[in-house]
Amino acid sequence: MSLSVKHLLGIKELQKEDIQTIFKTADNFKQVLQRQIKKVPVLRDTTVANIFFENSTRTRISFELAEKRLSADVVNFSASGSSVSKGETLIDTVNNILAMKVDMVVMRHSASGAPWFLANHIDASIINAGDGINEHPTQALLDAYSIREKHGNLKGKRIAIIGDIMHSRVALSNIYCLGKLGAEVMVAGPPTLIPKNIEKLGVKVEYDVKKALQWAEVANVLRIQLERQHKPLFSTLREYALYYGINKSMLEGLKKEVTIMHPGPINRGVEINSDVADSKQSIILDQVENGVAIRMAVIYLLSGKKEME
Ligand code: CP
Repeated sequence: MSLSVKHLLGIKELQKEDIQTIFKTADNFKQVLQRQIKKVPVLRDTTVANIFFENSTRTRISFELAEKRLSADVVNFSASGSSVSKGETLIDTVNNILAMKVDMVVMRHSASGAPWFLANHIDASIINAGDGINEHPTQALLDAYSIREKHGNLKGKRIAIIGDIMHSRVALSNIYCLGKLGAEVMVAGPPTLIPKNIEKLGVKVEYDVKKALQWAEVANVLRIQLERQHKPLFSTLREYALYYGINKSMLEGLKKEVTIMHPGPINRGVEINSDVADSKQSIILDQVENGVAIRMAVIYLLSGKKEME
């Protein structure tokens, strides 16, 4: 089993068969993660660098755990506290890390397109751990994998992505991934947070969150990315919560159970209330758990190794 790509830069470049291969491989690794010894020796001779130019909790820990569960050697780099503050460029930073015999790079960067730029300048495989407002491919893979685990085949499933679509790399990667797997996708939220012409990506658009929930089998709720908004796009967080936040009474009025997802970090009381995030219809922590198996699968498949124990 192998992928059609050398790097995982975005879901846009993947074939449907690549996604299915990643899921099948993740199924195997998920079994490994249930064992008492949650580790396989397949990447004993591989070193992976996690290079994060932007903050992260889940993605960074999940990649590091995935690498360690595969027995890879791991080095972690954060831009804060590094020589980036002395003017070192992205390419110089990465080439210096690669000179220390690193085989694979996992990178998060605030600039959209940074992993594609890097891929033109280095030989090592790159995994995009989130670039600006563009893509977050492993998040979309773990989201789709978690929906498949709960609901089976994604073909024809109705998935609503709710919130700040405009500034979300999770939204774009999910749209590509779910579309390739045959799901129906709707984006919902305030008009100012939904990009013009997004219908061209094959999604439905809804500005009334209650109607989106009535349509959906699964709702993936996204936070407001205030750090990427350079002008006010809605009045106040309180008003956003009032009109677009997902709360329990909204779900109880539906007369059906919608599966609730969120990529994290959650802003409780803004885009989602605790009585929804912590409810039995929420699979938020299953997403986090599945992230390790998905990232093990991606790293293993890109490494080109043939043996899996
Ligand atoms: N979902 C996600 O990317 O979370 P982090 O920013 O904590 O990695």
